[in-house]
Amino acid sequence: MGGRMLKAWMLGCSLAMLAAGTAMAEGDAANGEKVFKRCQACHVVNAEQNRVGPYLKGVVGRPAGHIEGFKYSEAMAEKGKEGLVWDEANLDKYLADPKGFVPKNKMAFPGLKKPEERADVIAFLKQQGGS
Ligand code: HEC
Repeated sequence: MGGRMLKAWMLGCSLAMLAAGTAMAEGDAANGEKVFKRCQACHVVNAEQNRVGPYLKGVVGRPAGHIEGFKYSEAMAEKGKEGLVWDEANLDKYLADPKGFVPKNKMAFPGLKKPEERADVIAFLKQQGGS
């Protein structure tokens, strides 16, 4: 194989690997629905109804601390004012370590330690539309 062909071949391989990587990072919403059972005690996702926590319908892409009628902690309200938006990357960080990502927020949840569980529940939340 000539040098140029080898390079083209290697490029092809890394592109294929990249595509596989993105596919893996995209969570499994069906499994995410099961993971969400751990959130259900406090969060509603299919209606605009606050419980112990604010409703999560349409949360993906929503600014933090933004649901009217829900009494957020000062810490969470402050994050919202600072411009924190619940995109997938920030949700991943928050769900990995709620108290680490938003110190003094009042969500009494230790976090999801497994990256797959976080990706899955985020994929599920993404399916739950917006308001
Ligand atoms: C024990 C109750 C409880 C559980 C369980 C819980 N949460 Fe929460 N969650 C809260 C509370 C309370 C808040 C508001 C935090 C604040 O104001 O500081 C919150 C806030 C949030 C927010 C920010 C919402 C916003 O409008 O800014 C997200 C996102 C979130 N929770 C996702 C989840 C997910 C996903 C799970 C399950 C993996 C989960 N929570 C489990 C109580 C809970």
